[in-house]
Amino acid sequence: MNDKIEEIKQYAQKLRAEIDEHNYRYYVQDNPVIPDAEYDKLFRELQQIEQQYPQLITADSPTQRVGGAPLKAFSQITHRVPMLSLNNAFDDAEVTAFDRRLCEGLTVEHVEYTAEPKFDGLAVNLCYENGVFKSGATRGDGYTGEDITLNLKTIKSIPLSLPVDDPPPLLEVRGEVLMLKADFLSLNQRQIEKGEREFANPRNAAAGSLRQLDPSITASRRLTFFAYGVGQYQDPHMPQDKHSSVLAYLAALHFPVAKECTTVMGLSELLKYFQSIAAQRASLPYDIDGVVYKVNSLAQQNELGFVSRAPRFAIAHKFPAQEVVTQLLAIDVQVGRTGALTPVARLKPVFVGGATVTNATLHNADEIERKDVRIGDTVIVRRAGDVIPEVVSVVREKRPAYTTSFVMPSHCPVCGAKAVRFANESVSRCTGGLFCPAQRKQAILHFASRRAMDIEGLGDKLVDQLVDLAIVRTPADLYRLGLTALANLERMADKSANNIVRAIEKSKQTTLARFIYALGIRNVGEATAKDLAAHLGSLDRLMAANSQRLQQIPDIGPVVAQSIIDFFAEKHNCEVIEQLCASGVHWDEHEGKSISIAATAPLSGKTFVLTGALPTVSREQAKEIIEQLGGKVSGSVSQKTDYVVVGTDPGSKYDKAVSLGITILDEAGLLAMLK
Ligand code: IVH
Repeated sequence: MNDKIEEIKQYAQKLRAEIDEHNYRYYVQDNPVIPDAEYDKLFRELQQIEQQYPQLITADSPTQRVGGAPLKAFSQITHRVPMLSLNNAFDDAEVTAFDRRLCEGLTVEHVEYTAEPKFDGLAVNLCYENGVFKSGATRGDGYTGEDITLNLKTIKSIPLSLPVDDPPPLLEVRGEVLMLKADFLSLNQRQIEKGEREFANPRNAAAGSLRQLDPSITASRRLTFFAYGVGQYQDPHMPQDKHSSVLAYLAALHFPVAKECTTVMGLSELLKYFQSIAAQRASLPYDIDGVVYKVNSLAQQNELGFVSRAPRFAIAHKFPAQEVVTQLLAIDVQVGRTGALTPVARLKPVFVGGATVTNATLHNADEIERKDVRIGDTVIVRRAGDVIPEVVSVVREKRPAYTTSFVMPSHCPVCGAKAVRFANESVSRCTGGLFCPAQRKQAILHFASRRAMDIEGLGDKLVDQLVDLAIVRTPADLYRLGLTALANLERMADKSANNIVRAIEKSKQTTLARFIYALGIRNVGEATAKDLAAHLGSLDRLMAANSQRLQQIPDIGPVVAQSIIDFFAEKHNCEVIEQLCASGVHWDEHEGKSISIAATAPLSGKTFVLTGALPTVSREQAKEIIEQLGGKVSGSVSQKTDYVVVGTDPGSKYDKAVSLGITILDEAGLLAMLK
């Protein structure tokens, strides 16, 4: 009997491998070798076996792409290696400067690059353990993303298992999920037929499909994946020489790698590649918003390293934004979170950059004057990717006989407080502060936003009501909201009220970085909030820090430091913080503690070289920690090196360090230095 089961098990495994192979031929190579009916037959045979012997079902079986009940919420996954972003170049001059910088930095005449399409989709991380797809996450804020494993499993071009006999213990593959233009068009066609809302562009359709709690909905939308790199890995076969070898390795593991990815030499070939891809753009099966250049040699990548949150060795060369002509119907004034009064053009709706645009920013009064924009004008509007649309210029020949000029109001259009414009600023600001309902609403929306306290369901319509009815005046009031207060609001079902109460409760457990960001301190964005949390480690220390202390933190200059000091000097702000903490908002106090000693930048002036694989932290992480503590990481050992950190299988750097008599540390030794 056992023999028989064993035999069936083997057969099922053989069927799976066969199905995977056909799947790969069909979805990745676009070159099927058997008719669909044959494929269906194999698939059904496997299904029948698994039905009869459920104990033989494996997680990576092709039958398991769709399954499981809808989730209640996505859980969070912390990336082992952060998912960084890319710096942008918008024209040839910026690419030229990039290439020159690298040639100088690397002291070479020409740099070899890989050139790749910049896919306009969503970045994801796929994690394979012992060759089996275990989990997948969105990029999120680069450090933590959402667990979308079940949805990713439904994407047929993502292998559920790696087609090798000796799979690596760990492999993280990074790439972009997108919807092909053709699939997007047929999805919208289906949406129309069902009387449902159409998607504005393939990117939105892909995002909407991927963030479904019910994986069967994702499965019904055809999504595609392209790999462009790796995250953490323990893989003896991983190429160590070039990025192009890594891509070739991923392709050999059956990951889709766009055939447009190539290697080029020097600046002139970069620009040629850009031209050639721009010419193909319309006929490519997927949307792109530019191309990406990456230094091909991994040793050179390592030498160049990272600056802030982007690699120095790569850049995105973006296509110029699309421009269209439309009519400017009116100019309204919006009040932002910090009171800035922004003139906004109301436009005759126009389709540009993949979405319908009805508003565009005019920035400030000076800009309106400079561009001589008047109400009634025909204007050119531009939209680049996610960027807010803007009015570029006026088509003067089309100006009608009667137009009205715009005058910046002297008072806030919302609260009526005086608007002032400081001599060194281009914007007028409402002086109403948090007494101005518009500023209050924005502050609360910001506080609740996804990257801040992440209170799901607290949208602008709800905040409008809460503030207008004076139920909520400060973020602290949110934590006193009861079910009854919410349920009495317009258009609020009991269930939604319940959900919001629950979301508010859930947001109490947060992180120091999120909390700092949520406060909405002027000039303190998400990245700065993270730096503050990591370097100071506690809210008390932040509130007590003087300008000098704040400026010891890399990337924090006098202006940001002053904004922070001004914020905490305001008694009202400190009261709100006190109330928030009293209502139970909390975070792990140890968070960032390890680097809070950075007060003295303990590694300042010290140069490190890393070689070999470290047991618990990745080289990238080690590098980031060293740099945050003021140290420098270099790619090669010289007389100037202070420490060489050695992992398993160190290279020749180890020998050189020994011969030069440089202090050698293992990972534990390094971590001990940081304590
Ligand atoms: S590499 C450290 N390659 O662009 C850099 N990114 O701005 C890691 N993207 O979040 C990214 N195509 O979503 C890389 N060929 C490509 C890409 C690409 C699109 C996106 C990706 C990333 C963003 C960075």
